[in-house]
Amino acid sequence: MTTLCKIYEGKKIWPPPVWLMRQAGRYLPEYNKVRKKAGSFLDLCYNPRYSSKVTLQPIERFDLDAAIIFADILLIAENLNLSLRFEDNIGPIISPNLSNKFSLEKFIEVENSRLMNVMESISLTRDVLEKDKSLIGFCGAPWTVLTYLINGTSTKDFKYCIKWMHNNKILANELLDLLAKLSTDYLSLQIEAGADVVKIFDTWAGVLEREDFMSWVVEPTSKIVSSLKRKYKNIPIIGFPKGAEYLYKEYIDLTGVDIIALDQDLNRDFCRNILQKSAILQGNISPNLLRTGGIKLENDIHDTIEKFRDKPFIINLGHGIIKDTPIVNVENLIKIIRNYN
Ligand code: CP3
Repeated sequence: MTTLCKIYEGKKIWPPPVWLMRQAGRYLPEYNKVRKKAGSFLDLCYNPRYSSKVTLQPIERFDLDAAIIFADILLIAENLNLSLRFEDNIGPIISPNLSNKFSLEKFIEVENSRLMNVMESISLTRDVLEKDKSLIGFCGAPWTVLTYLINGTSTKDFKYCIKWMHNNKILANELLDLLAKLSTDYLSLQIEAGADVVKIFDTWAGVLEREDFMSWVVEPTSKIVSSLKRKYKNIPIIGFPKGAEYLYKEYIDLTGVDIIALDQDLNRDFCRNILQKSAILQGNISPNLLRTGGIKLENDIHDTIEKFRDKPFIINLGHGIIKDTPIVNVENLIKIIRNYN
């Protein structure tokens, strides 16, 4: 059984297991090398040999307890007949976007799409990954994926997305349903291919008021979780409603996720006293402190471990590694955790 599955079964593992969001990425020279060879970021995602290779790089370098398959939450845009590309210094560009000339007439089933390359990457990775290391599959939550589809790119102004959702209620609900269905199929196929844990990334859950949060975050996520739970009883599901503050509690209780990914803005006493009663905690070292390093990072690691250690938990960051993070800080983080009593 893999380490994260043991935690899910309630076994206490010491030192606690650790992996990092965006652990494969631009802060690693070996990643940049493969990324260059692949050509574009999407070519890297869709090439099973390259994608598997970068998935394994942080495990080889830091001996982390889990690998997360290298792909992106936005690949699924192509299943809605939208075209996706990534541009340096801009990020994702999706066209047409939902605000212009979009029709939901036909979509592409996961098993007939380029997402099947991700499944191949998963089986290649599982073949060589040590047996006790977890392999995490993932998808974007419908709401977070929709924010990119509505705008056609990354945004800091979510008012427009929220207004679009309210002004296009019928289409918005159809899209949330369709994305929940495609994401369920996608995660199921990832599990069949060898992922033993799955994670649902809802990076923009925190911009919503309670009512919209219930309809656009909780409802679609519950559908994905309950469909997966019917088929795969022993596969732990990690939920990440980033920024959701006090709504974290209801998110856990209403969606049924097993493991809750905590962002670094959450108060750790709240996490321990309230959230740890309903889910396994995963978190929440600050990515900024990981970049800074030194005594502040050390204190943050100690604080996390002391607050969460009464029950089995997983160490991670509150969000992805920042791209200019010094590698030596990641090495120190692992060293401190592994030598902790
Ligand atoms: O190591 C891992 O965590 C696995 C791979 C992974 C990536 N993206 C690789 C990536 C995962 C799990 C994601 C999830 C993802 N992608 C999220 C949710 C988590 C989060 O970070 O909030 C989101 C919102 C995206 C969408 C996305 N992907 C954007 C907005 C961008 C551009 C911004 C940027 O950082 O460049 C990406 C690109 C991306 N995804 C990169 C990587 C390593 C950098 C691209 C490159 O190498 O050129």
